[in-house]
Amino acid sequence: MKVNIYGLGYVGSVSAACMANHGHQVLGIDIDRGKVDCINEGISPVVEPGLRELIHRVTKAGTLRATIDQIADADVSLVCVGTPGRDNGSICLDYISGVAEQLGEYLRLRPSYHVVNIRSTVLPGTVETLIIPILERKSGKKAGCDFGVCMNPEFLREGTSIYDYHNPPLTIIGEIDSQSGAVVEALYTGIAAPLIRTNLRMAEMIKYAGNAFHALKITFANEIGNICKRLGIDGTNAMEIFCRDQKLNVSSSYLQPGFAFGGSCLPKDLRALLYKAKELDLDVPVLGSIMASNENQMDEAYNLIKKTGKKKIAVLGLSFKPGTDDLRESPIAELVETLIGKGHQVSIYDQEVSPGRLSGSNKAYIDRTIPHISCLMKNSVEEALEGSEVVVIAKRSLEFEKTLGILGNGKIIVDLVRALPRQTDLDGHYEGICW
Ligand SMILES: NC(=O)c1ccc[n+]([C@@H]2O[C@H](COP(=O)([O-])OP(=O)(O)OC[C@H]3O[C@@H](n4cnc5c(N)ncnc54)[C@H](O)[C@@H]3O)[C@@H](O)[C@H]2O)c1
Repeated sequence: MKVNIYGLGYVGSVSAACMANHGHQVLGIDIDRGKVDCINEGISPVVEPGLRELIHRVTKAGTLRATIDQIADADVSLVCVGTPGRDNGSICLDYISGVAEQLGEYLRLRPSYHVVNIRSTVLPGTVETLIIPILERKSGKKAGCDFGVCMNPEFLREGTSIYDYHNPPLTIIGEIDSQSGAVVEALYTGIAAPLIRTNLRMAEMIKYAGNAFHALKITFANEIGNICKRLGIDGTNAMEIFCRDQKLNVSSSYLQPGFAFGGSCLPKDLRALLYKAKELDLDVPVLGSIMASNENQMDEAYNLIKKTGKKKIAVLGLSFKPGTDDLRESPIAELVETLIGKGHQVSIYDQEVSPGRLSGSNKAYIDRTIPHISCLMKNSVEEALEGSEVVVIAKRSLEFEKTLGILGNGKIIVDLVRALPRQTDLDGHYEGICW
C-alpha cells in the first residue's frame, strides 16, 4: 500500500521504517526539517535500538523517504504527531488539528478513496468532534462516505519499539465504517496479534485505560514494595510470588466494572494493611484511596436510582456476591440503608438469604445489625417485584435474568452487575451502572 505518515517522532519514525520494511511504499512528513533530512540520509531521527539500521536499509531500498511539504498520492494517511500535555493536565491538540487541516485540503483534491488513520493518543470523542469536522469542512466531503476515518492507537514502548511493532499486545481499529477499517486492517497483514475492530470512541478509550492501568500497576507494586521493606520482606520477591497467581492477581478477574466491593475480607484486610502502613509512618496514597473510590461507587448506584424519581424499589440480591449468604459489609445492604433513609419503600429478594433459609450466625448477624432490612425481605422474586417501580439488580442470578428478561411492563431496571444481555433496552427502561 502507499502510506503517508505525518509526524516522524518516536511513533512515526518506527512505524514508517517498519511499514517500509514490510513492503509498503512510505512517505514520512514532518514540519521539522532536521528529522526529514535525517530520514532521507538514511539516519534515524530518534534514538531507538535497531532503528538506525532499519532506516538505512529501507531508504536504500527506496520504500521510505521523507518530506516537509511534497505530499504524495497514497491509500492511507497515518497521523502520528505529538499530543503533549499542558500544565493543567489537558492535552494540546494544536498539532493534530493542524494536520487535519492539511489532510482536509489533500482530500479535497483527491478523486479516489483515502483513509485517515489517527495513531496519536487522543481522548474519547476527539476524532468525532474535532478531527472529522475539520476534515469535512476543509475537504467539502463526507466522512464514512467519500473518505474513511479510523482511530488505531499505538502501543509501542520506547526502547523496544521495533519488537513491539511486530508483536503488539493488540491491534485495535476504531472505524467510522467497515470500508475504512478494512483498509487499515490490510496495513497489518502478517502481524500476529489479536485484532479488534470497534468504534472510534472505544479505540480512543482503550489506550487511556491501558496507560492508566500501567501507571496504577507501577504505583501499587511500589507501595507494596515499600511496606515489604519496612517489614523486612524482600519486595521484589513478594511481587514475583504475587504475580505467580494468574487466576486472581494477574488476570481478568475483578476487572469487570460494576458495583462496589464488600464482604468479610476485602474491606477488613485493606483497612488492616492501611493501619499497618500508618504504624510504619508510610504514606500509601494509592492503597489509601481505594475505600473512598468504593464509597463513590455506592453513591453512583444510589444516584442512578434517585434519578428515576421513583419511590418503590425492589432490590434483587443482598449478599455481596453470588453463591454466598454472607452479609458482612455487603455494599448492597448499605445501599438499601441509604434508600430507606431517603424515604424509599424497599422490598428485597435474595435466594441465598431468603427469610425461610436464614439460620445460625447469619440470622443473628441480620437480627443484630440490620433488623430493619430483614423485615423487608420477600420469599420470591415475584413477591419482591409486586408494586415496585424500579428494580435494582445487585447480584447475578439466573432466576433474576429469566424473570427480568420478560418484564417489559414499564418498571425501570437499574443493573449494577450486568445481569441482563448486552442489547437489553426495554424501551429505554433499562440502565446499567457503567454501561
Ligand atoms: N512515544 C511513545 O512511546 C508513544 C507510544 C504510544 C503512543 N504515543 C502517542 O503517539 C503520538 C506521537 O508521539 P511521539 O512520542 O512520536 O511524539 P514526538 O513528539 O516524538 O513526535 C511528533 C512529531 O510530530 C511532528 N509534527 C508536529 N506537527 C506536525 C505537522 N503539522 N505535520 C507533520 N509533522 C508534525 C513533530 O515535528 C514531531 O517530529 C502522541 O500522541 C503520543 O501520545 C507515543
